[in-house]
Amino acid sequence: MTTDLSVQIGTLSLRNPILTASGTFGYASEYETMVDFNKIGGIITKGISPEPRLGNIQPRIWETESGLINAIGLDNVGVEDFERSKLDYLRKIDCAVVVNFFAESIESYARLAGTLGSMTGVDALEANISCPNVKAGGREFGVDPVAAAEVTLASREATDCPLIVKLSPDVSNIGDIASAVANAGADAVTVANSMPAMAIDINTREPRLSFGRGGLTGPAVRPIVMRLVHDAAQAVDIPIIASGGATTWRDVVEFMLAGASAVQAGTVNFVNPQASIEMAEGLERYCQHHAIDSLAELVGSAKMP
Ligand SMILES: Cc1cc2nc3c(=O)[nH]c(=O)nc-3n(C[C@H](O)[C@H](O)[C@H](O)COP(=O)(O)O)c2cc1C
Repeated sequence: MTTDLSVQIGTLSLRNPILTASGTFGYASEYETMVDFNKIGGIITKGISPEPRLGNIQPRIWETESGLINAIGLDNVGVEDFERSKLDYLRKIDCAVVVNFFAESIESYARLAGTLGSMTGVDALEANISCPNVKAGGREFGVDPVAAAEVTLASREATDCPLIVKLSPDVSNIGDIASAVANAGADAVTVANSMPAMAIDINTREPRLSFGRGGLTGPAVRPIVMRLVHDAAQAVDIPIIASGGATTWRDVVEFMLAGASAVQAGTVNFVNPQASIEMAEGLERYCQHHAIDSLAELVGSAKMP
């Protein structure tokens, strides 16, 4: 028996539900010798901004017992250099290419969505809305349903490319934000970006990261993101893409039971570059073992009290 692992997100078709998470997979070429791209659903690029950014100074990653705290500062080549030096390679790889992007104003998100969405080789866009809205005094777009909807609508109107909106976990009701974004035209939501976190050196009393604080990712966040995925899935009908601590195929199955249609492999890529392939293969074995012929049978089927 074969299981159909394919997933549809708007007009984007994935051969299986495993994607590599933004910022943990470079621009894909970095993994060329380690990953067979034709075994995963897709890759998501490092977040692209209108202008190049150097990011924060070192140290910008701190390892904890069960994850990472990072404050990279959205280091990236910028949209022009992305098109000139990264896109040719991405056009050649045999899996979906999703470009993560961010900006500091609604107009700038829309312009960037229009530019990236029209590039040949870009199969979908993922808007990172956990970014400071300069006009709103630096408050993140993703923590306010109105701002989240505005930035989604403006990006939606700028492009026909499938649009995924990546939500912040730092909200009291993720269902409200997911609904606002879905009503504004998003094809899917990613739940979620890294959790605000910090660590301090007890000898120097200085923060471990130059920026002072950062975002926690990896296995530590998985149960929290599991709950966020479940809550978001209760609130919207568009696909949910889980991002937070997935390490093995078992985590993929669990996220799907909670309501995710696809799952991102992030921090685990740093430990095991083959993890995304192992997740896809393990999911297929699980489905065959349990005589599941379509992933739709799994998604959101957790038996809640
Ligand atoms: C070093 C690093 C850089 C990241 N850069 C980005 C980024 O540029 N844009 C973005 O939306 N998310 C970024 N993320 C968040 C990841 O895409 C992912 O959502 C998060 O790590 C949670 O998944 P994980 O626990 O599987 O790593 C980054 C994460 C890490 C660890």
